[in-house]
Amino acid sequence: MAISAAEKKQRAAAAAMQYLRDDMLLGVGTGSTVNAFIEQLRPWRDRLRGVISSSDASSRKLSELGIPLFDLNEVGELELYVDGADEATRQRMLIKGGGAALTREKIIAAASRRFVCIVDDSKLVDTLGRFPLPVEVIPMARALVARQLESLGGQPVWRHGVVTDNGNQVLDVHGLRIDDPRSMEATINQLVGVVTVGLFAARPADVLLVAGAEEISAI
Ligand code: A5P
Repeated sequence: MAISAAEKKQRAAAAAMQYLRDDMLLGVGTGSTVNAFIEQLRPWRDRLRGVISSSDASSRKLSELGIPLFDLNEVGELELYVDGADEATRQRMLIKGGGAALTREKIIAAASRRFVCIVDDSKLVDTLGRFPLPVEVIPMARALVARQLESLGGQPVWRHGVVTDNGNQVLDVHGLRIDDPRSMEATINQLVGVVTVGLFAARPADVLLVAGAEEISAI
């Protein structure tokens, strides 16, 4: 039976609920799949200790539900982080940042013991890079970073009009074939002017929940 992408996102979000525990500090990501997850958090409103959000957009939705929001600096390690992705491999390496929240997402992933990534099956790929790779840059370094990304074989495109929650800009890098995600992440990370590259390879997801038409696979 054919089901819509929206329905698959709902199912992936529902599958993540099994990882919740009472009194938990929960990291929450950004995007339409996470929005489905946030909606399903309603019954957990009084059971969670609170959440750390990766974006102003998610914070607004979580506040509307009445779930306490914490600053990451006020808390220690998070037990669980739930977020979506733009692309994912079976090794649970990801491209993220389609929603421009990649920096806070990477920080929360680094601060979390377990990262559960929720996607529909259209996101699963053998090799990362079909989805243009988001790179958050300091505004004055945008052209400098773009030239360096071109020398790595990519075609960076400035995401006009988008300012991240951190006041920075985003380049979307097309045409990169990412055969070695860890190495590419390290290389782009060290370019002067780069804040964050949307490759999650050094710290991949711990669990990847993939919603297909028939079933949910946990990878
Ligand atoms: C946000 O910056 C991204 O990393 C999202 O996780 C990603 O874009 C997934 O979004 P959707 O769930 O809307 O596809």
